[in-house]
Amino acid sequence: MADPRPVGVVDSGVGGLSVLREIHALMPSESLTYVADAGFVPYGDRSAEEIRARLDVLTRFLVDGGVKALVVACNTATAAAVPRLRERLPLPIVGMEPAVKPAAAVTQNGVVGVLATQGTLASGRFAALLQRYAEGMRIVTQPCPGLVTAVERGELDTPATVRLLRSYLDPLLAQGVDTIILGCTHYPFLRPLLERLLDPGVRIIDTGAAVARQLQRRLVEAGLQASAEVPARVHYWTSGDGEVLRRFLRQYLPETLQGPVEGLSMGQEQGAGLRLARAER
Ligand code: DGL
Repeated sequence: MADPRPVGVVDSGVGGLSVLREIHALMPSESLTYVADAGFVPYGDRSAEEIRARLDVLTRFLVDGGVKALVVACNTATAAAVPRLRERLPLPIVGMEPAVKPAAAVTQNGVVGVLATQGTLASGRFAALLQRYAEGMRIVTQPCPGLVTAVERGELDTPATVRLLRSYLDPLLAQGVDTIILGCTHYPFLRPLLERLLDPGVRIIDTGAAVARQLQRRLVEAGLQASAEVPARVHYWTSGDGEVLRRFLRQYLPETLQGPVEGLSMGQEQGAGLRLARAER
């Protein structure tokens, strides 16, 4: 039996759209509901506790809205919140983490750079990932403050973004990395610029396509795939500026991923937790 319900995808902002487009490329019949917590971006500078509280509310919104599976399309939020979400929510949840294992398979010299947020690099989940897969490799990590904000603004190739990105690549190149992992879902939007700044011998690894394949496996296992006969629908929600998201979608996503953008607001109720409401954006 085909299941027409959408898959929920959540990120701090536009970064998860780099995963959404991979999901759509692999499974064009799946409807998608995307939540950008752009009123609170960047997550990379927030505490794990704050991120967990946001994710509790945002994923509850998606589940109440009828999604059949969830993709936490954010490395930072996965590290902070996915174990708890898996305990609380009764549906398939796919998270993401820097692609250390795939990097081990392609590096020639064993020196691998990881570009990610401070939150991801400082997490216990990342430490465990290194322990598991990085044996025999030298991993050079680089937090990238400011880069997510540049991508949020759609400034993918401005002189300031070029300068900032160069300042994060230089220390990695000085250590002789031959492979660079994009450990944040915002960074694939910088790939054209990265390819221009890097020697063609340096491999760039992104996890979006692998996450889409993992989602596909989970949907097949659970019998939750959509029918190819029913047209897919895409719907966006943001806690930030709706116009900013609309502009980004028009500029960087294909026609088939255009869809309505609606607003959310999240506030702290006195003596209670965070509360989500629809809002004009
Ligand atoms: N896109 C997110 C990630 O993959 C978070 C970026 C941020 O909000 O700092 O880590």
